[in-house]
Amino acid sequence: MSIRLLAFAASTRKASVNRRLITRLAHLAGDQGAEINLLDLNDFPMPLYDGDSEEANGRPASADRLQALFASHQGLLLATPEYNGFFSPLLKNTFDWLSRPDTEGQSGMDALRGMPVGIVSASPGGMGGMRALPFVRLYLNNLGMLVAPQQIAVSRAGSAFREDGSLDDEGQDHALASVAQQVIELARLRHG
Ligand SMILES: Cc1cc2nc3c(=O)[nH]c(=O)nc-3n(C[C@H](O)[C@H](O)[C@H](O)COP(=O)(O)O)c2cc1C
Repeated sequence: MSIRLLAFAASTRKASVNRRLITRLAHLAGDQGAEINLLDLNDFPMPLYDGDSEEANGRPASADRLQALFASHQGLLLATPEYNGFFSPLLKNTFDWLSRPDTEGQSGMDALRGMPVGIVSASPGGMGGMRALPFVRLYLNNLGMLVAPQQIAVSRAGSAFREDGSLDDEGQDHALASVAQQVIELARLRHG
């Protein structure tokens, strides 16, 4: 049985460099036999988390739809922008909503706990978003997710990709393939 992986960038920007990076990572995971579902968070709009709004309206339908996708996949590939040394508010808001009970009252944490995840970042700057990655790791660990040891940060991302979508730096493209490999291996270990 092939491993099914979700993939998305925590940026909804049209020209997002993280979307380019997640597209490459998804491709490399596909090359290794995984079945990839590459999502666009524009299709899962959620208001900024607010407890009063949750009490009045429940969790947004987008969070329920995304949770169902988490439940039907065995791993996640995630690319995040770095904002002031931290990960994007979109990432935080999306997972905060996911961690809340669904409309049936079932804990949203159930779909996240134990799920393997590979984290990467891209930035036009010289550090590629590497300062954000430890915080992503910590945050996802707090949600019970299993973050793969390998991670990469792609700097000068505006000129880092070839026309075919691969990274110009072959060593880094290789390291990206290792992120995919580790997530697939963790998912296999967990699901047999
Ligand atoms: C509020 C804000 C803070 C930023 N802080 C950083 C930063 O700390 N490090 C960095 O490398 N880039 C930083 N950037 C630049 C982003 O990396 C850049 O906008 C990038 O293109 C965002 O990712 P995306 O293209 O996937 O949307 C910042 C951008 C914004 C809007």
